[in-house]
Amino acid sequence: MCGIVGYIGKAAAPPILINGLRRLEYRGYDSAGLAIIEEGKIIVAKAPGKVQSLSNKTRDEWPQERFANISLGIAHTRWATHGPPTEVNAHPHLDQAGNIALVHNGIIENYRSLRSKLEAKGHHFLSETDTEVLSHLIGDRYKGDLFQAVCDALHLIEGTFGIAVIAASEPNKIIVARRGSPIVIGIGEGETIIASDASAILAHTQRVIYLDDNDIAIITADGIDIRDLHNIPVNREISELEFDTGAAEKAGFAHFMLKEIHEQPDSLRNAIRGRLDFNLGSSVLSGMGSSPRDLAEINRVVLIGCGTSLHSGLIGEYAFEDLADIHAEVQQAAEFRYRNPIISRSDLVIAISQSGETADTLAAVREANQKGAFVMGLCNVVGSTIARETGRGIYLHAGPEISVASTKAFTCQVAVLLMMALKMGRSRRYSRQEGMDFARAIEAIPALVAQVIEQDHHIAQIAELYYQNEHAFFIGRGPMYPVALEGALKLKEISYIHAEGYHAAELKHGPIALLQKGTPVIALANDIPGKDKTLGNVEECRARGARILGIITSGDHEAAAAMDDVIEIPACHPLVATVPTAVALQLFAYHIARLRGCEIDQPRNLAKSVTVE
Ligand code: F6R
Repeated sequence: MCGIVGYIGKAAAPPILINGLRRLEYRGYDSAGLAIIEEGKIIVAKAPGKVQSLSNKTRDEWPQERFANISLGIAHTRWATHGPPTEVNAHPHLDQAGNIALVHNGIIENYRSLRSKLEAKGHHFLSETDTEVLSHLIGDRYKGDLFQAVCDALHLIEGTFGIAVIAASEPNKIIVARRGSPIVIGIGEGETIIASDASAILAHTQRVIYLDDNDIAIITADGIDIRDLHNIPVNREISELEFDTGAAEKAGFAHFMLKEIHEQPDSLRNAIRGRLDFNLGSSVLSGMGSSPRDLAEINRVVLIGCGTSLHSGLIGEYAFEDLADIHAEVQQAAEFRYRNPIISRSDLVIAISQSGETADTLAAVREANQKGAFVMGLCNVVGSTIARETGRGIYLHAGPEISVASTKAFTCQVAVLLMMALKMGRSRRYSRQEGMDFARAIEAIPALVAQVIEQDHHIAQIAELYYQNEHAFFIGRGPMYPVALEGALKLKEISYIHAEGYHAAELKHGPIALLQKGTPVIALANDIPGKDKTLGNVEECRARGARILGIITSGDHEAAAAMDDVIEIPACHPLVATVPTAVALQLFAYHIARLRGCEIDQPRNLAKSVTVE
């Protein structure tokens, strides 16, 4: 979603800001802009489209020698919410006097009424955005102290914001603030860089401070002064970023998505390392923070998330019921707080989110906290809002996921959920021997995934047979049903093929009407309970002329004979098999999107982290 970068220090700011924006491109955006201060005036450049267009514009219009001494600026990538992605709607936005420039992530919910009041006072707006209203509001309150003006304006705002603000009349500072939209401050040597996401900071420093909601900070080249909105100083810890710039590069792969798919044996090893106890037949997840006795008192597990994270939750649901004999259910995070869910203190609510910033999941976490549940986060991004607000939970350790389509975070989520279910199971009916066997099954996941990745070339050849279709159906049963949903989501989001995932039994309750000669059906027919029934459903599809790609267990000749094409998954525990099967579908979606010439890492209309409801 939208991205913010700001710099103050000793180097020329424009190239640093452009490079920072490039690091945020993966989040998805549709226009970009930046503002600097030159000789007491704010100068702004904006462009619809890619950061490259902004870069070309600044290169042509801003000769290097002219701006070599400009060492302060703010920049933004915008994902359109209020008004189309045009140059005029792009950030930064100025106040009425042209003294103040602002970049903003989030949504100002009461912008209409604020705009009318400001218009009545003579303010004239150029854009359709909610952000311009905030810049005018700050300008309206400005009496020579930018910090105070921002504070005053933010008191009048309803909604969410991560902002960076500069004023031509105070050229030695940037004011940043957050509520519901992250701001990270990177502490360098005589320079400070701020961003909405640590990946834009890494090239400068690994020492960072994460702002909390309602924090506002005055940033200078060598100082950071953090206060709350009532001007009371607050202390925030300095953290060390765990990844370096290398982790955010493509490392020779054509796309971040392909790199991240190939990284999975390693990311899974990192997610699992040190977390299995083969002696007790359990897992060591200190983030769960409870004794076996406390865990035994949990009556229900509620898994919440959105999109891909919702799908891993659906696999978790099978695992908790199967291993731990505990009632588990998945709830769509966006619906959670509006349906007034029945939650009690004996419920464990697990919020699953790669980014840890998804607005709907965060809102659901707050609702679950409000209702007194035991809430836990399953996040990848360290220090993210959900990780911090849940207070307890488990990090995935998947490493930075840059591609918009989630791959390695999904498989690590599943691996961690299996370990959580194992731990819960051992506090209930699961025997030590069963636990030891399942721990071994989890330990094998990275190697199983590596065997699927070895088939990359074979999967690319299969994709050649399917990439020209405009529709596809994914079917599966049991824990393979959520994998079918995830396979369909991966395909549709990066290749723009209309793809649907169904429980294999559901097909004949309606969707089978859509099958015609050659319609692709991707059947997850692994050798797990229910396979025979899935093979029956495959026959029904074949009878209607569908072309069947079977994901089957290696050496299963019966299943192979029912398919037109096959991808083989090594034999393993049914719950564990969800992970290598998902990886096969990730590669299938990737190669189809590549053959269709799609922009794989940044699919149209999508954002890496969805920080608006
Ligand atoms: C799809 C995808 C999205 C995210 C969803 C939730 O590939 O990435 O569906 O899974 O937007 O994001 P997080 O996990 O960051 O909460």
